[in-house]
Amino acid sequence: MRFPAAAVLAVLCGLIAVTTTAHATQSGRTPLPEIAIAQPGQCVEPKEVMRREHMTLLRHQRDRTLREGIRTKKYSLNECIACHASRETGSVIGAGGFCQGCHDYAAVKPDCWDCHQPKPGRKTAVKAQP
Ligand code: HEC
Ligand code: HEC
Ligand code: HEC
Repeated sequence: MRFPAAAVLAVLCGLIAVTTTAHATQSGRTPLPEIAIAQPGQCVEPKEVMRREHMTLLRHQRDRTLREGIRTKKYSLNECIACHASRETGSVIGAGGFCQGCHDYAAVKPDCWDCHQPKPGRKTAVKAQP
């Protein structure tokens, strides 16, 4: 019920777009978004898994935190931001932002930043003012 067929299709299209992006970038044919990795090292899962599954990992975490009061660090949004914030802007959104750069290309607009800070530091999400 939470994932109607149209949404599933949109997801698949998004993934295909991203996969194509990677190939096109490698073969140097089409100008596509640069995905800048601000900190060297390793992600919480292999890159291919993250590309495919990060929305699900974050969603599950979100549901578990808010509904069950469970909080594990592995897929913490704050941890994503700590590693992925741009060295120039200090943020994962905006110009050159890790999350937004790719999302603009994929035409997705998660609502996370209504409440969550896109910069490292402030840890607690707040409810957006109406
Ligand atoms: C209506 C406000 C609101 C929105 C929108 C929202 N969150 Fe949250 N989120 C919270 C609150 C409140 C908490 C619990 C307090 C905290 O941990 O900062 C939380 C906690 C979390 C956590 C657990 C804490 C952490 O850093 O791991 C994750 C993960 C998370 N949210 C992900 C998301 C993602 C992904 C989105 C976008 C799809 C999102 N949230 C959108 C309010 C929101
Ligand atoms: C400890 C630092 C660290 C944390 C925490 C981290 N990442 Fe990563 N992430 C990286 C690095 C380094 C890479 C590049 C890995 C590679 O090239 O193999 C990466 C790659 C990625 C990619 C693939 C980018 C591409 O080139 O297509 C995505 C998507 C991603 N991360 C999302 C996330 C999300 C979402 C979170 C939080 C759940 C997160 N990361 C947490 C360091 C981190
Ligand atoms: C390599 C490209 C890429 C990067 C980098 C990336 N995303 Fe995504 N993200 C996508 C694509 C494509 C989708 C759409 C597929 C879908 O809807 O499941 C998506 C969807 C999402 C969704 C679900 C949105 C919704 O409304 O359904 C969330 C939440 C999300 N991303 C969070 C993040 C966060 C947080 C970061 C930065 C830490 C990030 N993403 C970085 C490509 C990326």
